[in-house]
Formats: sequence, structure tokens, C-alpha cells
Amino acid sequence: MREFDDKSITGAVIERLSECNDPRFRQVMASLVTHLHDFVREVKLTESEWIAAIQFLTAVGKTCTDKRQELILLSDTLGVSVLVITLNHPADAGSVESTVMGPFYWENAPERSLGSNLAEGVKGEPAFYSGRVLSVDGRPLENAVLDIWSGDGEGNYDMQIPGEVAMKARGRIRTDSAGRYWFRSIKPTFYPVPTDGPVGVMLRKMGRHPYRPGHIHMIVCAAGYSPVTTHLFVADSQYLDSDAVFGMKESLVAQFERHPPGAGPNGEQMEMPFYTVSYDFRLRPVP
Ligand code: BEZ
Ligand code: FE
Repeated sequence: MREFDDKSITGAVIERLSECNDPRFRQVMASLVTHLHDFVREVKLTESEWIAAIQFLTAVGKTCTDKRQELILLSDTLGVSVLVITLNHPADAGSVESTVMGPFYWENAPERSLGSNLAEGVKGEPAFYSGRVLSVDGRPLENAVLDIWSGDGEGNYDMQIPGEVAMKARGRIRTDSAGRYWFRSIKPTFYPVPTDGPVGVMLRKMGRHPYRPGHIHMIVCAAGYSPVTTHLFVADSQYLDSDAVFGMKESLVAQFERHPPGAGPNGEQMEMPFYTVSYDFRLRPVP
């Protein structure tokens, strides 16, 4: 057949995959074409809507730089990132759940000794974090590494602060022989995802807010175990029930217990109220 109508076009495009010798790529592309065509038929996409979509995707691509990934932000805000993560890291395996990485990870954060204050000179209420890294069957993992990053107490990551060139509120902490970790940082607050690009335009048009609930990020890894990219969420934070990137998981919500000024858990005299939070991370052996 040389000519196609609004139904036969789908089979025709899929048929052109017959010479593709990568079976997985063929499967993914055939399904993509099927769903994309079904979508166009279902909403009866107009030509001006189609051109608006092309212009939008072009703008998303043009907004990407070596420091900004607007395409990932699009995937995050449409729930695709967390869907992929959830499919590939099922919660029932007993290990800590994964969630989105986000755009503010900075490789090679300095390794800091146990108990370090990662947030020296960072705005925010002090918080002392502690817990253990364990295998799913409860064995403590010595030398596990938590690669930690968070925004400050006003919701800004170091990379977002004009003129700030140094790493702030970041560091890698290694567990002791009992699998324990502890460090000081700040209690994170909610903040908006970047809204000054095309994804921000899309969110406003959708009538959506751009906020993520307060959270601290970490990648937890140990030799012989699958690394997990995750967060701890602040239990009383705003937006826990409407995370702009759908990354909130109940199992990652941690209680931040407030204490009056006085001796901190490390014996340090704290002049302002501070928080303590405890959480154990469980890792699955590499399959
Ligand atoms: C973040 O948590 O830092 C983040 C995640 C996804 C999109 C934007 C920000
Ligand atoms: Fe974040």
C-alpha cells in the first residue's frame, strides 16, 4: 500500500521497523508509535496545537546547557522520571526506596569525617542526622558511603546562589564498623523547581504549583550492593501531598524532632533550637 488513512498509518510506520535488527529498540519504537498515534487521534490534535508542541519541545531543548537540563525537568514534572525509577526499583524488595535525582547533584563532593557539619555557613536551622546502613537482612554495612546534598534553609542550592562557587551543604560520609553514620546539616525546606523556562510556562498553564516538599538528597552505596538515589523528606513539610515531581514516598518521610537550645547530640552547645532525625537505609545485594 502506498497511501494511508488516519488508521492504517500506524501499522505502516510500524511495518517499516521490519529491518531493524535490535529487538528491544523495535519493541520500544513500535509501542511509542502506537501510543503517539492513538494520542493524536484521541485528542484530534489540531495543526496549531501540533506546531505549538514542536515549538515547546524546541524551547525545552534550547534551554538545556551544561548546567541546566530542562528535558529532565519536563520528564520529572510529567511524572515520567519517577515512573521509570519505581518500575526499576520495586519497593517490595526490602531496600530503601529510590526517588528522583534532580538537577542539583554535584559529583565528587568532599569526603567528610563522621559527625562533620556539612552546612558550615549555610542558612537554616541546624539538624543532626544519624542512623545505619544495613543489608536487607539487617547486617550492618561498614564503609558504606552516603553522598549527601541539600538546599539551604531557604530552599536554595549552592549552584543557584548568584556568586556562590563553592560546594555548600554537600559531602560524602562513610559508615563506621557498626554501619552507623552521623552528620550535621540543616533542616531543609520546601522550594520551587526552576520555573523561568518552558517547563515553568507549562506548569502555569496547567494550573500547577512548582513546589517540592522539604527534603535532603543522598546516594547510598556499599561494595557488593546496589546503590540507591534517594531523599529523606521532612515529615511536617508543606507540599508532601503534592510534590511537583511526584517523588514523595511515604517510606522516606522522617520525623525531625525539635529541641530547645542546649547540648546537641555531639555534646556541642547549641545556641538556637535544633533538630534530630534518625533513619536506617537498607541496601540490596547486587543481583
Ligand atoms: C530536586 O529535588 O532538587 C529537584 C528534583 C527534580 C526537579 C527539580 C528539582
Ligand atoms: Fe532537591
